[in-house]
Amino acid sequence: MPTTHPHAEVLHADALTALPTLTPESVDCVLTDPPYNSGGRTPTERARQSTRGKYVSGSARHTLADFAGDNRDQRSYSYWLALVLAECLRACVPGGSCLVFSDWRQLPATSDALQAAGWTWRGIIVWRKPLNRPLRNGFRRECEYVLWGSSGPLADRDQPVYLPGLLTGSQPRAGRRHVTEKPVNVMAELVEICPPGGTILDPFTGSGTTGVAAVHAGRSFLGIEVTDHYAEIANARVLHAMQQAPAGNTA
Ligand SMILES: C[S@@+](CC[C@H](N)C(=O)[O-])C[C@H]1O[C@@H](n2cnc3c(N)ncnc32)[C@H](O)[C@@H]1O
Repeated sequence: MPTTHPHAEVLHADALTALPTLTPESVDCVLTDPPYNSGGRTPTERARQSTRGKYVSGSARHTLADFAGDNRDQRSYSYWLALVLAECLRACVPGGSCLVFSDWRQLPATSDALQAAGWTWRGIIVWRKPLNRPLRNGFRRECEYVLWGSSGPLADRDQPVYLPGLLTGSQPRAGRRHVTEKPVNVMAELVEICPPGGTILDPFTGSGTTGVAAVHAGRSFLGIEVTDHYAEIANARVLHAMQQAPAGNTA
């Protein structure tokens, strides 16, 4: 088992520019949370609203910065995401996994993109958010989803893992850094799909939550983030996590 310190890096770039420069089969898994291109009741609302307006409830308005890449209609979203995920497949080892976040609205488009990119669809992990609002005369939208694919047959592991299909965690309230920031505890469960000592790729890094969870778990991390503000935050968070990680933490 490797005993080196995990390596972590965030590239400030567009995913479709940076991914083709990666060496084939140079990462062990992909874990990413793309801009959902969702929110709003109509396609026009989805394309015109700011990301803050779409994804932050009125009662929780705050001053977090908007992010790029969230105004595609559903067809262009599927097409664009398929291009990105195909590049991720090229960069991933055979047998490695790809985990992609989505919401209820974009679930079909995301599964199309995952499969069009060449990943074998393996299942869905449900992320339940305990802090959610009731919907008058309807069902709470209290879950988001993580689609799971693999590059061909799943690789076997020296020490098998048995991972949960339901994760629970709230987006941070105090000290939140990103409009759609994911909870570190949820990411911490997901990074376990990567073999110990392996490298996790996240082409939509945002504020770097995947990177923090990866480094805490002794995995190496390669992130890509196009929005200046968030690339800076992600770099600082990942650096901080590296400084805290004891050398040889590959558990
Ligand atoms: C849903 S957020 C990720 C949030 C992240 N999981 C977190 O916890 O902070 C998606 C991110 O992808 C970035 N993004 C959008 N288009 C991109 C592109 N073409 N290349 C790289 N990053 C992109 C956005 O700027 C945004 O920060």
